[in-house]
Amino acid sequence: MKLIHKSILMAAAAVAVSASAVAKAPVKLTEKNIDKVLKEMTLDEKAKLLVGYTFGQSYWGLPSDPDPNAGAIVLGAAGNTANIDRLGIPHTVLADGPAGVHISAERPGTDKTFYCTGFPIGTLIAASWDTDMAHGIGDALGSEMRDYGVDVILGPGMNLMRNPMCGRNFEYFSEDPLLSGMIAAYWINGVQEHGVGTSPKHFAVNNQEGNRNFNNALVEQRPLRELYLKNFEIMVRNSKPWTIMSSYNFINGEYTQESHDLLTKILRNDWGFDGIVMTDWTNTRDTQKQVAAGNDLLTPGNAEQIQQIIDGVKAGQIKMADVDRNVRRILQYIVKTPRFKGAEYSEAPDLKKNAAVVRHSAPEGMVLLKNDDSLLPFTAADKKKVALFGATSYNFIGGGSGSGDVNKPYVVDLVQGLTGAGFELDSVLCNVYGIYRDFVHAEAESEMGVFTTNSYFPRPRVAEATMGKYTYQNAAERNDIAIVTIGRKSGEGGDRLMKDFNIYADELDMLRGISEAFQAKGKKVVAILNVGGAIETAPVAKYCDAILLTWQPGLEAGNSVADVITGVSYPSGKLPMTWPVALADVPSTANFPDNFDWRDEMYWGRQKIDSTPNLGTTEYKEGLNVGYRYFTTADAPVAYPFGYGLGYTTFSYSDPKIVRKGDKYTATVTVTNTGSRAGREAVQLYVSAPKGKLDKPVRELRAFGKTRELKPGESQTLQLTFTNYDLASFDPELQAFVTDAGTYKAHFAASANDIRHTVDFQGKAATRNVTPALLMK
Ligand code: BGC
Repeated sequence: MKLIHKSILMAAAAVAVSASAVAKAPVKLTEKNIDKVLKEMTLDEKAKLLVGYTFGQSYWGLPSDPDPNAGAIVLGAAGNTANIDRLGIPHTVLADGPAGVHISAERPGTDKTFYCTGFPIGTLIAASWDTDMAHGIGDALGSEMRDYGVDVILGPGMNLMRNPMCGRNFEYFSEDPLLSGMIAAYWINGVQEHGVGTSPKHFAVNNQEGNRNFNNALVEQRPLRELYLKNFEIMVRNSKPWTIMSSYNFINGEYTQESHDLLTKILRNDWGFDGIVMTDWTNTRDTQKQVAAGNDLLTPGNAEQIQQIIDGVKAGQIKMADVDRNVRRILQYIVKTPRFKGAEYSEAPDLKKNAAVVRHSAPEGMVLLKNDDSLLPFTAADKKKVALFGATSYNFIGGGSGSGDVNKPYVVDLVQGLTGAGFELDSVLCNVYGIYRDFVHAEAESEMGVFTTNSYFPRPRVAEATMGKYTYQNAAERNDIAIVTIGRKSGEGGDRLMKDFNIYADELDMLRGISEAFQAKGKKVVAILNVGGAIETAPVAKYCDAILLTWQPGLEAGNSVADVITGVSYPSGKLPMTWPVALADVPSTANFPDNFDWRDEMYWGRQKIDSTPNLGTTEYKEGLNVGYRYFTTADAPVAYPFGYGLGYTTFSYSDPKIVRKGDKYTATVTVTNTGSRAGREAVQLYVSAPKGKLDKPVRELRAFGKTRELKPGESQTLQLTFTNYDLASFDPELQAFVTDAGTYKAHFAASANDIRHTVDFQGKAATRNVTPALLMK
């Protein structure tokens, strides 16, 4: 009886337990049940998922922050998405970008280090004109993300280079939307093939750092559509980035982060983007408007924003449908991530392998600007003794600063690179410059508390030590050749000062001193430009026999440069932006900030547009007159044109043709190596449109390609393709991209100013309407 009673009780209890288990059985997120999970979520949970999650006190990780990212999954990552354990939704990790995985190299409680590869800056990648190279860099980066457990890299940076002095141009690709969009697309594909995501940024018109958080960019419809949005359009149409980052600034009176026009009408409806949009790292915009605009994820995120979403929905100011739409997109993103899939992280990337990728790919984007009498390359046996000048030679710059910097284990400087290649460096100079470098570091440390060359707020350059004429003369006596580096560095939060474009008096003295002394002995001078963007070059060209533009080539810098100098590698880059003679020659310079200090409190906390020229409001008065579009149309002189670059060999172009099939044009040209060394050639196809309703730049880049390595005498026929839509210009009156019928000219060119062949072809009339948006208010 007792027994029966007990078993009945047990059975009853089992029924009760399983009933409550059924009632409460939490749904766990899978790839297939997103709608079900969405239904299951409370408003609080939805609001939480729309707002980024920060561990500890600060996402910046500045030395002054007491407890940066305490408890973070990946220390030093810029942000995370929120978790909801009940529904099986894990945190995901978002880290900067773009020159490598930006996380902390050290973690409390362990001696193990977590260094990441410092890849070449974006500008160098674009200067390769090689989509395969961009893909290869993306590939190596994607593998490091997997190793460190980073789900999304906050990059590529791809704003157009409106003016040479934008402080973050080094992160960006080009002044041309096609080059910028295609390089971005291949970089993205390379990363994402590893099952991790990207976040191309900063969408859009974030072309200056000066007052970037509150700057109102006033841009006419045509330049907006044909330039500043076009690169993003091309990128979206040629890759499928998991996310996109909206920028800080206003466009025509509307914050991009609050703009339904930009984030929904243009990006999703017109271009077909189907990932999530996240804000750049601000907490100061109107939450309600951002949710409505389709800014799915608000980063870095704070508790107030979560509450604002909850309150907004309850008060009927935020539509539940908008919240659900954004949450659904975030869930669709989450199920793709390695973290959701339970991936394991080695935390031991193959840094050696990736360093080799950097070392061998950097020369592809290095640009030989001058090479009198084929001075370069030379072997160590030829020019054994080198006088190495310039403070930057002894502290070579691998990349820019700010979020786009990487905690890399080392940067190979020129001393290490050239010594490794078998050169004998002048020991007197090595000693003097070594002492000077230590002095500069110590001085910077006492001023800023940290050494600044690779820290957050950069010194744009190190002043050159004064040397007397006998120092130069004695060096010329002792050595076979001089190599001198001019360096510039910039970073997030401020633009380059205009004066920083020019060669400074101390640099001029150095160049002149070296040149006079070495010339007197019949010896040559090589200049290395270790810069993130254009500088004045006339004095460098005057005093030096060869100029090699290395940009900021990542952690293997000195080795890559030595490889190029010795001919182990060859430079095959071409300029992705025009190098002007003077800054004043660039039309946008009249409407670009100078001297803005980001610490200027006047601009903090502002949310309304103010009219302070070029800071509060920047008028893009130059319209389409950006880069080579201006210089070629105005036939104005430049130092080096867009697309320019010498190599160690020469190429001829022959047999140019163009055929159309439906909407697609295929241009072909045969490129032959006519010199005596191996090399690769970047070929550009510019198109001139027939006269029509709209005034157009004299020619615009419509396709490009790069040969494989060609040995002397070898040829390759390149195929360059574009569509009828690619020929269109934007007609603001019709709110449409219009391709005129008529005779077009296809120019097969080695640079914007070096046209080798021109072939006529017929364009088809076509009109593609866009959703009217972002009109000037
Ligand atoms: C930068 C972004 C960066 C983010 C996170 C922002 O200030 O503009 O490019 O991804 O911070 O570090």
